[in-house]
Amino acid sequence: MNEFLKDVWEGLSAPQKSLNSKYFYDEEGDRIFREIMDCPEYYLTKCELDIFVNQSKNIAKSINGNLADFDLVELGPGDCTKSEYLLRELLVTHKHFTYYPIDISENIINQINTSLPNRIPGINIHGLNGDYMAMLEKLNELSAKNKVVLFLGSSIGNFPLTENPSFFRHLKQYLKPGDLLITGFDLKKDASVILNAYNDEAGITKRFNLNLLKRINNTLGADFDLDQFEHSPIYDLGSGACISYLASKIEQSVQIGSMGSIHFAKDELIYMEISQKYTVEDTHTIAYQSGFSPIGEFYDSKKWFVDALWRNNE
Ligand code: AVJ
Repeated sequence: MNEFLKDVWEGLSAPQKSLNSKYFYDEEGDRIFREIMDCPEYYLTKCELDIFVNQSKNIAKSINGNLADFDLVELGPGDCTKSEYLLRELLVTHKHFTYYPIDISENIINQINTSLPNRIPGINIHGLNGDYMAMLEKLNELSAKNKVVLFLGSSIGNFPLTENPSFFRHLKQYLKPGDLLITGFDLKKDASVILNAYNDEAGITKRFNLNLLKRINNTLGADFDLDQFEHSPIYDLGSGACISYLASKIEQSVQIGSMGSIHFAKDELIYMEISQKYTVEDTHTIAYQSGFSPIGEFYDSKKWFVDALWRNNE
């Protein structure tokens, strides 16, 4: 059976209905996510861009202080808007590093491969299209150098907190002792600022969530009525979990292709996505639990976001 169908069916058959947020990103989902990044309430991208615009010199200095020679790897580079600033800084002192952007989207890798050499003359670039870990394994055959890995955007926040160390421990298996990781975490802050970022005025994030139901309709032959689900995010100050739910406005049944039908009670929730928020202490704990040492922190001017620099232990 198709893995998407299997995941959707299992997720909606559980007592707490859920869908996996990794399925947000079809072509339309990619487009809506770019709208989210541009909307005034979504501060994460703006804060992290602030970090790369203003701190890339310092980040480059820290990298150079730790590694004499390296390649730069980026997991999920988007259009390199942020990393471009660091790439320029690194080129000043290191003419010979190679930039390896890794993405599951062939489209993204093709775009970077063609546009980046024009934007950054002299850059050595080798895009890798595929699963992060599979491509890291391939990269280990291509180059024996130390790595600096960028994992930006607080993407880690899409995993429940308890699963964060297992992601980084998995990543660690592809790294050498002394390799560096620069990874973004969205920090705990005023609850309304966080909630608004996932409940924007223009309804872009609502469209982003409903688009997954639309994708299920279009590719799995389901019959979700998008008007009968409400976008409903919550933020829990204590745990730092920001969770997006879709709530069924009425009692209804939804047919999922040939699999069968799913019953929704009025107000029943589908758990769509977690966007975990952290304290800096949380990030230290995760680093140690994952076999890394936190050796640097780079903040935006509001201290709403941190890019942490971690060194891989023995
Ligand atoms: C791409 C995981 C960082 O959780 O903030 C944005 C995705 N979802 N608005 C986030 C997202 C709704 C985003 N990350």
